[in-house]
Amino acid sequence: MTWLITGGAGYIGAHVARAMAEAGERVLVLDDLSAGVPARLPDGIPLVQGSSLDGELLKRVLAEHAVTGVVHLAARKQVGESVAQPTRYYQENVGGLATLLDAVAGAGVRRFLFSSSAAVYGNPDVDLITEDTPCAPMSPYGETKLAGEWLVRAAGRAHGIDTVCLRYFNVAGAAAPELADTGVFNVVPMVFDRLTRDEAPRIFGDDYPTPDGTCVRDYIHVADLAEAHLAAARRLASSDAPGSTSGAGGAGDLTVNIGRGEGVSVRELLTLIGEVTGDTRPVLVEPRRPGDAPRAVASAALAAEELGWSARRSVREMVESAWRGWQLHHA
Ligand SMILES: NC(=O)c1ccc[n+]([C@@H]2O[C@H](COP(=O)([O-])OP(=O)(O)OC[C@H]3O[C@@H](n4cnc5c(N)ncnc54)[C@H](O)[C@@H]3O)[C@@H](O)[C@H]2O)c1
Repeated sequence: MTWLITGGAGYIGAHVARAMAEAGERVLVLDDLSAGVPARLPDGIPLVQGSSLDGELLKRVLAEHAVTGVVHLAARKQVGESVAQPTRYYQENVGGLATLLDAVAGAGVRRFLFSSSAAVYGNPDVDLITEDTPCAPMSPYGETKLAGEWLVRAAGRAHGIDTVCLRYFNVAGAAAPELADTGVFNVVPMVFDRLTRDEAPRIFGDDYPTPDGTCVRDYIHVADLAEAHLAAARRLASSDAPGSTSGAGGAGDLTVNIGRGEGVSVRELLTLIGEVTGDTRPVLVEPRRPGDAPRAVASAALAAEELGWSARRSVREMVESAWRGWQLHHA
């Protein structure tokens, strides 16, 4: 197998590229470097600078490198930005995917892994979110991920491509400090950012119907997430794709949550961050933000069953590794 990893110079993509290469898989990366950093990739992983919207380039890359599988992570990922610029998000996330799938089908590639998100679920009122929980995304970003899944499955059925969609929950941490997330879009870097500015971390709402009143989430270490991709790629590479949930056109498809299956409240997370950073200043409690679900925790059962994968790293390890990365990038 030769795997093309789109978005492989990004935060998660670079972890996936490294994990797959270290496990002996042949990988190359396509990234337009709009958010990616080439230095995240170790020597030996070829990087093609280009866009998933460039069909001619994709055809050439798939042919020249004799690609047999694709891991598609390239996307725009900011919820707020997607509300302000929905057409851009549909063009890049769904249009780019359609262009890529055309090239994949044309090149005879038969293995496709798609980076989806827990954002497809929206705000479900359940204890554990299973893959059967109805999807009701609450932002254009989440909609592009759900539409992307539909498109991936439809193209899989039409062209006999085995597909896996991984719905990531809240990702943080770094396998090595230089691979850390440099954006400030998720709660862990947002808290680090506040502390670095000598400001108190904020909690948005402490009157939710949860044990301590703050929102509960499922946080996963990015190194565990990268291992989930390796497990999914290996499942796709195995000829019969055991456990395939659809046989149409000879293709199988699987859609699976990637989380730890355990809820951590924002207050618990902030306490942990205080312990790790040594900065235990009191937090500020502000009003709820519109659209925040009280609780979003994955059922991790299907990933264990279908991929033989479960998260191995604790939330503390995740925070510690994220903090080492933050310190490196913000020294
Ligand atoms: N970070 C999270 O918490 C999270 C959660 C759920 C899902 N995801 C998904 O995981 C994927 C990776 O996210 P990330 O956090 O690593 O983001 P990131 O912005 O660090 O990585 C995305 C990469 O894709 C590249 N890219 C963007 N558009 C491109 C295009 N049209 N063609 C080629 N390259 C392009 C960027 O340069 C960047 O390197 C995305 O699909 C995102 O939606 C992320």
